Amino acid sequence: MKVEKVAIIGMGYVGLTNSVAFAKYGFESICTTTTQSKAENLNKGIPPFYEPGLEELVKEMVGKGLLAGSIDNVDAVRKSDISFICVGTPSLQDGSTDLSAVNESAKDIGLALKESDKYHVVVAKSTIPPGTTENVILPIVEEYSGRKVGVDFGLCMNPEFLRQGSAVYDSFYPDRIVIGEHDDKSGEVLENVYKDYECSKIRCDIKTAELIKYASNSLLATKISFANEFSRICEKFNIDVYEVMKGVGLDFRINPRFLAAGVGFGGSCFPKDVNAIVSLANKMGVETPLLDSVLYTNEIQPLHFVNLIKNVVGTLEGKTIAFLGLSFKPNTDDIRETRALPIIRKLFEEGARIKAYDPKAIKNFKKLTDLPIEYHKKWDEVLRDSDFAIIQSDWKEIKEIKPEDFKKLLKTSLIFDGRRTYEPISLISKGIKYFGIGWKNEYCARKQHLSCQSS
Ligand SMILES: NC(=O)c1ccc[n+]([C@@H]2O[C@H](COP(=O)([O-])OP(=O)(O)OC[C@H]3O[C@@H](n4cnc5c(N)ncnc54)[C@H](O)[C@@H]3O)[C@@H](O)[C@H]2O)c1
Repeated sequence: MKVEKVAIIGMGYVGLTNSVAFAKYGFESICTTTTQSKAENLNKGIPPFYEPGLEELVKEMVGKGLLAGSIDNVDAVRKSDISFICVGTPSLQDGSTDLSAVNESAKDIGLALKESDKYHVVVAKSTIPPGTTENVILPIVEEYSGRKVGVDFGLCMNPEFLRQGSAVYDSFYPDRIVIGEHDDKSGEVLENVYKDYECSKIRCDIKTAELIKYASNSLLATKISFANEFSRICEKFNIDVYEVMKGVGLDFRINPRFLAAGVGFGGSCFPKDVNAIVSLANKMGVETPLLDSVLYTNEIQPLHFVNLIKNVVGTLEGKTIAFLGLSFKPNTDDIRETRALPIIRKLFEEGARIKAYDPKAIKNFKKLTDLPIEYHKKWDEVLRDSDFAIIQSDWKEIKEIKPEDFKKLLKTSLIFDGRRTYEPISLISKGIKYFGIGWKNEYCARKQHLSCQSS
């Protein structure tokens, strides 16, 4: 079977960036959403969120007639040979997964297949607990279509591994493609869609594919919490955790990525996916002491950062703080589970006043909290006359602030870096009082105290 037209249900980070990649590889792609204005904007070449390089590609693909937005799932599926379910799967209160959008999508696919006699492949790409594709999606599609899996339609699970902030790049150049297949023909069709993608391709059963996603995110989150735990050990010994992790990461069995200590992981995936697999495992009677600790470490890291600040400045009552970076990481306007929120909450509890800057995420952060933060579109307005600065996400715009600017604008030349945005020595040598996660803070405090006394 030759695939020419692709339906992608969900216009988020996964759905839209993959739609753009499929379009660029020559497939006619229809990407759907529930919001009329988002579909209309997409058809004018305007994406609904920020990702580097996305807007240019959307414009190009819409212009060539290879990408269109729609709010009609049934129509999009009916016009296509293969459909990808890329809708959100947020956490419920108990950490388990909200499958309502997945169920809706499966129903729409079923209704579309009912009106067609063509073979069609249904692909689940959203992150969903093991068993969901076969025990939830499959029966819904069969019920609403009146057709039979393995005969009238194919079924696959194809987890997504892209990183926000480089989602477009990752959609074109994934490390690997995992194809969980109901049967040979389904897997064959999907592998063929990816034939021009140069990376390893793994074919396995559907439940394995579903669990590979949770295992991957759990391991990445574990590496981050591991580095964060060591950052606290390093601080006590006045050792630089970045040097330690550099030495650790050079071991090819480990690799250097995701060993950057900081204020913890956020975003729409790691916290949600680790919580989901923990909740599921516990419900099935499996204990998860390792993953429980990964989550616990992530919860305490922002509070540890605030304590580090208090150890240097004493009380925060009445202090004005320049807060740089609100998104959960640079190059995205996504604020889901951003560590900025627990840090800012704690700073307010301690009586501080907060002036905040972010290149893209202010609008979204305002929706997250009504705390009386003073937002500014320029970093210099935030630094001016503040007592000290805190860096929460290492945007390029923030990295490029010069030591002279900190010295000129802040009252104290004091910086607390939650992400190792700057090379500490380069700032200290220019007269900045630098403190950060996993840095030689005590040593620094002594040195800076001495240099203050001698000046
Ligand atoms: N964001 C990431 O970095 C990332 C990476 C890998 C996997 N994932 C997983 O992929 C899935 C999607 O994630 P995302 O970040 O793209 O989500 P998102 O929240 O950015 O987007 C979800 C989209 O689905 C749309 N939608 C919801 N119900 C719909 C329906 N019935 N019909 C059509 N559209 C509908 C929403 O309008 C929205 O545009 C989730 O399961 C997530 O865990 C996300």
